[in-house]
Amino acid sequence: MNLHATPAPTSDVPTGRIVLVAATAALGGFLFGYDTAVINGAVGAIGSRFGVDGVVLGFTVASALLGCAVGAWYAGRVADRYGRIRVMLIAAVLFVVSSIGCGLAFSVWDLSVWRIVGGLGVGAASVIAPAYIAEVSPPHLRGRLGSLQQLAIVSGIFVALLVDFGIVALAGSASAPWLLGLEAWRWMFVSEVVPAVLYGVLALTIPESPRFLVSKGRTDEAKEVLRRFVGGDIEVTTASIQVTYRGQLERPKLDVLRAPSGGLLPIVWIGIALSILQQFTGINVIFYYSSVLWQAVGFSEQDSLVITVITSVTNIVTTIVAIMLVDRVGRKPLLFVGAIGQFVSLGTLAVVFATAPIVGGQPMLEGAAGPIALVAANLFVVFFGCSWGPVVWVLLGEMFSNRIRAIALSVAAAAQWIANFVISTTFPVLSSIGLGVAYGVYTLFAFVAVLFVWRFITETKGKALEDMDD
Ligand code: GLC
Repeated sequence: MNLHATPAPTSDVPTGRIVLVAATAALGGFLFGYDTAVINGAVGAIGSRFGVDGVVLGFTVASALLGCAVGAWYAGRVADRYGRIRVMLIAAVLFVVSSIGCGLAFSVWDLSVWRIVGGLGVGAASVIAPAYIAEVSPPHLRGRLGSLQQLAIVSGIFVALLVDFGIVALAGSASAPWLLGLEAWRWMFVSEVVPAVLYGVLALTIPESPRFLVSKGRTDEAKEVLRRFVGGDIEVTTASIQVTYRGQLERPKLDVLRAPSGGLLPIVWIGIALSILQQFTGINVIFYYSSVLWQAVGFSEQDSLVITVITSVTNIVTTIVAIMLVDRVGRKPLLFVGAIGQFVSLGTLAVVFATAPIVGGQPMLEGAAGPIALVAANLFVVFFGCSWGPVVWVLLGEMFSNRIRAIALSVAAAAQWIANFVISTTFPVLSSIGLGVAYGVYTLFAFVAVLFVWRFITETKGKALEDMDD
C-alpha cells in the first residue's frame, strides 16, 4: 500500500490561519535580520566609546556570526528532543538577554560576549523557522510560506536600519547621551527587546509541529494539528509520517546523517553546498559594508546611506516576487536563472572596479562607471532576492526527510554561518588587493552555482514532505 499522502491541490483549512502560524515562526527570521544589521549604526560609536578600531572592532561585529554557527549546530538536536516551539522560546530569551547585555556593555569584550549570545539565538532561529514552517505547511503553499522567513529576514534588516536612523536623528548622534543618560548606540541594541518579546509571546500561541509530535508517539495531538492547520486526508498523512519514523524513535544523533558507505549522506552535502554558494557570491558584503564601499569609490556619505536604503528596499520587493513565483515555477528554475543573473551582475562589478583608475589606493568610479556599478549591484540584489535568498531557506526546510530534517538543517545552516563569517572577514583583505579581485572571486562562485543547480538540484515543488526520501 502506498501510504504517501498525495499532496492536496488545495486545502480545506483557511489559508489565513496557516499564514499566521508560519508568520509567527518567521518572526525568528525578523530577529535574525534585525540582530545582524542593528550593529551597523552603532559600530562607529562603539569604536570611539571603547577606543578600539580595525581588527578588534571587526571582531566585535563578526563575533556574532560564530555564535550563529554554534546556535545553528545545536538547534536541530534540541528541536528533535524537546520540540520546535521550545527552540523558539530559547531563541527569544537569548535575544532579550543579548540586547540588554549589549546595551549595558562596559567594554568591547563583554559586548562581544553578548553579541555571541545573540548569535546563538540567530543561529537557532535560522534553523527552526524553515524546519517548522515546512512541517506545518500544506504542500501547495510550502514554498510561499517558507519564503516568509526570507521576507522576515530582509524586513528585519530594513527595520534595524530605520531604527538606527531614527535614534540618531532623535539623539543627534550615535555617541550622544539619550534616554536615561545612556548613549544612543546602546538604545539601538536595547530596541531589539521589543520584537524579541513579541516573538517569545507569539511562539506560545502556535501549535507544535505535527511531524515532531508523531516522532514522539503523540499521534492524536499531531492529527489535531493537521486537522486545524494543514487539511487534506489526516489519516493518510499521519500514517505516512509514521512510516518515515519507523524504527527511529530513539534519541536522534548526528549518526542519522551518515551514509551506509561512510561519510555524510549526499543530500546533506547538497544542503551544505547550497548554503555555502548562497554566501560565497557575496550578498552580505553588500549588506555589511555597503556604506564603506560606496564612499570608498567616490559617493558622499549621504548618498551612500540612500543607496543602502534603496538596496534594502529592493531586497524586500524582490522577495515578494519570489513568494509569488516559488510555488508556480518551482525552486530549480528560480535558482538557475538567479545564479545566471548573479554571475552577470557580479561580473560587471568586477570589470568596472578592475578597470577604474586608482586614486589613493581605491578605484575611482568616474563618468558612466558609477551608475553602471550601482545598477549592477542592485541587479545582483534583485537576482539574489528572487532566487537564492528565499529559495535556499525553502529548500533547506523541505529537502530532507522527516527523520533527519532538523539535524541536517542544523549542519547546513552552521555551514552557512561559517561561510558568512569567511566572506565578511576576508572582504577587507580581498578589497585591499582590489575590489575587482573581490568581485572576481564572487563571480567565480556564481558560475559554480549555475553548474551546481543544473547538475544537482531536484525540483521539490508540490511534493509531500514524506516523499522527499525518493
Ligand atoms: C539570506 C542569507 C542571509 C542574507 C540575506 C540577505 O537570508 O541567508 O545571509 O543576509 O539573505 O537578503
